[in-house]
Amino acid sequence: TAPFVIAVDGPAASGKGTLSRRLATQYGLRHLDTGLSYRAVAHALIQAGLPLDDEAQAVEAARKVDFAGFDPMVLSTHAVGEAASQVSVHPAVRRVLVEKQRAFAMQPPGAVLDGRDIGTVVCPNADVKLYVTASPQVRAGRRHREILRLGGQAEYEAILADIERRDARDMDRADSPLRPADGAHLLDTSQMSIEAAFLAACAIVDGAR
Ligand code: C5P
Repeated sequence: TAPFVIAVDGPAASGKGTLSRRLATQYGLRHLDTGLSYRAVAHALIQAGLPLDDEAQAVEAARKVDFAGFDPMVLSTHAVGEAASQVSVHPAVRRVLVEKQRAFAMQPPGAVLDGRDIGTVVCPNADVKLYVTASPQVRAGRRHREILRLGGQAEYEAILADIERRDARDMDRADSPLRPADGAHLLDTSQMSIEAAFLAACAIVDGAR
C-alpha cells in the first residue's frame, strides 16, 4: 500500500510540532520536523564562522544534513531559529532539503511532516493537509509561558516582536512562502487547548482514511 502522508504547516509557535508528534504516534507514522533541517544548515554555518547569506556554503551544509543525526537541544535555540529563517530564503538550499524531506515521506508506512511548505511544495499530494495557526498574541503568550516554565527569562513584548518578524519573513519570501496549501484544513488554535486541537485533527485524518 502507498505511504500515508500528513502535511502540517503553520507559523512559528503555532503548536504544529506538538500536534504532529501526537498524530504520528496515534497513526503509527514516522515524524519529521522539517524546521530542524533548516536549523541544522544555519547551525553549521554559525559553527564554521560563515555568513548566513553564503549560499554556496549553505548548499554544502544542506547536502550533509542527516535527519537521523539531529541534536534538537543544540538546534532549538532562539538564535538558531532566527538564522534558519535567513538561510531558508535561498532556493538552492530549499531544493536540496526538500528532496531529502520527500524521500523521508515516501518510505512506508508514511509520515507526518511539519514545516512551512509541506502541503504546498514538499508533499502536494499528501493524504491530509493541515494548516495550524493562532493569533501572534496567543503564540507569543504560549512561548512566553513555556520559557518561564523551564526556568528561563523573557519579555512577552520581545517574543511577540520576534514572532511577527519571523512571520513576515516566512510569508513574504519569494520561494515557497508560508501559506495554506490547496485543500488544506485550517485549524485556528487561538481558542483551543492542545487536546482539543489534537482531537479536531484526528477527526480530519479519520475522515481521509
Ligand atoms: O519551525 P522552525 O522554527 O524550526 O523553523 C525555523 C525556520 O526554518 C522557519 O522560520 C522557516 O524560515 C524555515 N523553514 C522553512 N520551511 C520549512 C520549515 C522551516 O522555510 N518547511
